[in-house]
Amino acid sequence: KRAKRPAGAPDKAVAKRVTKVGVLGAGYMASQLALLFVRRLQVPVVITDIDQERVDKGVGYISAEVDKLLDKGRISPDEANRLNALVTGTTDKADFADCDWVIEAVFEELEIKQQVFAEVEQFVSPEAVLATNTSSLSVEQIGAKLAHPERVVGFHFFTPVAVMPLIEVVKTPATDDATLSTAMVTAAKLKKTAVITADTPGFVVNRLLAVLLGEAMRAVDDGTSFATVDEGMAPLGLPMAPSQLLDLVGLRVGAHVLDTHHAAFPDRFYRSENLHRLADYGKLLEKDDKGKVTGFDKGALKIVSGGKNP
Ligand code: 3HC
Repeated sequence: KRAKRPAGAPDKAVAKRVTKVGVLGAGYMASQLALLFVRRLQVPVVITDIDQERVDKGVGYISAEVDKLLDKGRISPDEANRLNALVTGTTDKADFADCDWVIEAVFEELEIKQQVFAEVEQFVSPEAVLATNTSSLSVEQIGAKLAHPERVVGFHFFTPVAVMPLIEVVKTPATDDATLSTAMVTAAKLKKTAVITADTPGFVVNRLLAVLLGEAMRAVDDGTSFATVDEGMAPLGLPMAPSQLLDLVGLRVGAHVLDTHHAAFPDRFYRSENLHRLADYGKLLEKDDKGKVTGFDKGALKIVSGGKNP
């Protein structure tokens, strides 16, 4: 006898097959996603970006990560060759024509995300799922201008993608059962835990993270040193201090996440001008050539030591 589905859980039977994956964007997040999809689904994966240089960088990242997996003995030389052969880069979205799963991880700007989906919709079948890795924009709005918004779903990963176990699957009022089900089955194939969240700013994880990083920045902007804020967070037992977490997520992305939350709920979330200045400056932490953090960047500390957030 078949087990009964829990209330609200999508019916796996209506999930669509994923035989080719398209990744819109070839930046760090997009490349990590492409690597996970090719490794776990073993299907062709095509990545694209606005110019060939970015595309080449993304493909280069993926093959370097495949080499690392080979060096660690996690995959055989045959599998390394197969994975590399399955990944292609293009600047032409027509190459997405036979993708049945497309995921975007382009810049976190509503108009840009709407535009890349609209462009790719001209080439893919109406059945193809369009997934967005947005961290805090409205998934419904991202799909609002499409001919088929029912195939749009949020599929939000965490960095580093290879090790973070969770995916937030975001259902909009338009998302149909087949799309939701495909998202859940795909998450399981990627060996991730999926939770279905409402389409609200920050979903679940980032609205908590925005509080944590926002309050860390507020303390810094109020005049507490970054090192003290990091130390003060230590009793919580998080795997990373706020400065490291900001560095991992990226200063620009971190500032953007805080901004989006602040714009949605100004009385609940903090927006830090200093974090924008740090993002313009480019770095917060010093690292050795192996990428190990050795301390704070002096120039960055000068930027944040200005005291109160103007
Ligand atoms: N890319 C790929 N793999 C990475 C990596 C990276 N940047 N950093 C670490 N790893 C891998 C390592 O290769 C290692 O894999 P292995 O076991 O196969 O060799 C594994 O992760 C563990 O790494 P370490 O041995 O260095 O172990 P640590 O104990 O230092 O853990 C960590 C590293 C898993 C990154 C841990 O510090 C952690 O969990 N940090 C918190 C990360 C976090 O909170 N991420 C969420 C950010 S929010 C977000 O992404 C949402 C966005 O919308 C803003």
